[in-house]
Amino acid sequence: MNDLDGRVAVITGGGGPHSIGRATGKLFAEQGARVVLADINAKALKETVAALADEGLDVAGVPTDVADHDSVQALADAVFDRYGQVDIAFLNAGVAGAGDLFAVDLDGWHRLLGVNLYGVLNGIRAFLPRMEAQGTPGHILGTSSGAGVVGLNYQAAAYAVTKQAVCTLMECLYGQLRDRGSRIKAHVVLPPLTKTNLAGDPNVMLHVEQALKAGGADVVLAEPDEVAGTVLDAIHTGNFWAYHDHETDQRLFDGKFAAAIDWEDRMARARADALLNRSAPEPYLWG
Ligand SMILES: NC(=O)c1ccc[n+]([C@@H]2O[C@H](COP(=O)([O-])OP(=O)(O)OC[C@H]3O[C@@H](n4cnc5c(N)ncnc54)[C@H](O)[C@@H]3O)[C@@H](O)[C@H]2O)c1
Repeated sequence: MNDLDGRVAVITGGGGPHSIGRATGKLFAEQGARVVLADINAKALKETVAALADEGLDVAGVPTDVADHDSVQALADAVFDRYGQVDIAFLNAGVAGAGDLFAVDLDGWHRLLGVNLYGVLNGIRAFLPRMEAQGTPGHILGTSSGAGVVGLNYQAAAYAVTKQAVCTLMECLYGQLRDRGSRIKAHVVLPPLTKTNLAGDPNVMLHVEQALKAGGADVVLAEPDEVAGTVLDAIHTGNFWAYHDHETDQRLFDGKFAAAIDWEDRMARARADALLNRSAPEPYLWG
């Protein structure tokens, strides 16, 4: 899809003031899309919608809990009632959770799975059938994380598990859509470490950056609007992975993330090697 003018885009997790969802909603609206942001934080959502509307952008907000199936169905009903179509569903709302397997109690596991995994599944089930029935091209994207691609983030076990699940969910969806010749494309969005309020505190991502640097990773925090750029790029190119690969990095960001990409690539390749050689995770987690 090259032209977003007049398209309808729904983005979950778009209420937060520094969120990837808000930045993407802004970018889409600047391209002429009619954008609906959904977020559990009704106050932040209202402020975000007002701020973007003040810039003359066509943005609406629907308070939604993505972990709640009925709430996501109500969101879909509201959007289809108002616009009669949805062309892009960006299922992006997520919550962070630090701690090892036992540090997060079972309620915490349910909460993380509810938002990060069921939030995406609820969105697919609420939007996809009606998007396909339109018969027009469209995109459905789920937000994972580098933490979902390699088990590196074992200090945030529950989070890493939910984000791995999102990758598999979207791969399954991709296969199903391809097999039936659907006009809807599935994507996984892999934000790099980004300066947002993930975990409800702007300092958390800075601490994560410091910890990774201490472990030898040459990472830099991305800005939310840089991630929005890769989401739009995936929609334009049709790439399954919305990710800062070298080509995107060079084209969109002047090679700013090259070192971090090298590091992440090395992890992902080492994981595949370990799988094929039936060896332990040391080489890619701690090598
Ligand atoms: N920031 C990063 O470094 C990073 C890296 C990889 C992946 N991600 C993923 O990016 C996505 C966006 O996060 P962000 O970094 O913009 O953080 P953020 O906290 O700024 O934004 C997330 C938004 O989701 C909303 N939300 C939380 N629970 C919800 C629910 N049940 N229903 C609806 N909305 C809910 C929050 O209110 C918030 O506005 C998340 O899925 C996150 O896991 C972030």
